[in-house]
Amino acid sequence: MNTTSGAPLAELRSRTGPPGQAAAGGTAAGARAGAAPRASALEPLGVSVTGLSHSFEDLKVIEELNLSVAAGEVLGIVGPSGSGKTTLLELIAGLRDYSGAEAEGLGPTESGKAKRTSIEIGDSAAAPDRLARCAYMPQRDLLLPWLCAIDNAAIALRNRGQSRAEARAAAAPNFERFGLAGFELARPEELSGGMRQRVAFLRTLLAGKPVLLLDEPFGALDAITRGEMQEWLASTLASEPRTVLFVTHDVEEALYVCDRIVILAPRPTAAIAELAARRPRAIPRIDAITDPEFTEVREQALERLAAGAR
Ligand SMILES: Nc1ncnc2c1ncn2[C@@H]1O[C@H](COP(=O)(O)OP(=O)(O)OP(=O)(O)O)[C@@H](O)[C@H]1O
Ligand SMILES: [Mg+2]
Repeated sequence: MNTTSGAPLAELRSRTGPPGQAAAGGTAAGARAGAAPRASALEPLGVSVTGLSHSFEDLKVIEELNLSVAAGEVLGIVGPSGSGKTTLLELIAGLRDYSGAEAEGLGPTESGKAKRTSIEIGDSAAAPDRLARCAYMPQRDLLLPWLCAIDNAAIALRNRGQSRAEARAAAAPNFERFGLAGFELARPEELSGGMRQRVAFLRTLLAGKPVLLLDEPFGALDAITRGEMQEWLASTLASEPRTVLFVTHDVEEALYVCDRIVILAPRPTAAIAELAARRPRAIPRIDAITDPEFTEVREQALERLAAGAR
């Protein structure tokens, strides 16, 4: 582990976040000794997608997709590979324009009749506003290999002009909570896959945005680590609510972590089913997935997914 760069560990741990840094991970968490500012200080925002279509040249990927996520809700998006889930998150985040005429807000239907297309986060459909309101965790963790864990986690704070010492001080209290204590100064290559995902998720949280777009955050993990991470994410979101769009291939994962799931058809994608996860969030995973109601909903979801693929 690199212990030569930046503030010594003991110093990092003894610091608390600077006052008034709600966007840097919140301030209310300071109520717990040494805890970082909390996300609950953020105003929750809903997300609404109406009549969204997208093509890459001749490849029609998304077709007239509608979905909405209430403020503070965790929505699972489950669909087969290539169905356009990553494209959807990029469109919502304003990282990609809708294709063709839909960029104007009025897209043509098959029949040629004009229809309304929009993506709104809170009260705005403008791409720069959406980008400012979302934190996007891409499919691969994309940690910067030359930065240690805490500098990776705190990168959004640095981008907002905080000094390295300030950014580290705001991020440091979270390392204990995220099971990363002692690894603040480790480089990504020195971390396990699950630890890297937790650093990437912490980086997403510390971006201080009301909406989190998580693209298969546990896709690369083994089954045991994946189960642990699901449990950890469910409890983190229960204690630190955000509006979340959680993309995964895994129906069970979606039903455990999320409040509600939407099942997408293969390309060109549209929502083909919606199911509520019938349980309180953040109960132990083993209790959740063996619950008869849970298994019933999982069966229904798998059937809908299979039917969509036929
Ligand atoms: N930049 C691009 N240019 C051209 N085609 C693209 C581009 N990005 C994605 N595609 C195509 O769009 C389709 C949807 O891709 P996308 O990455 O959104 O799928 P996905 O549902 O996220 O898949 P996976 O579950 O494998 O991650 C695929 O057929 C892909 O080849
Ligand atoms: Mg993808």
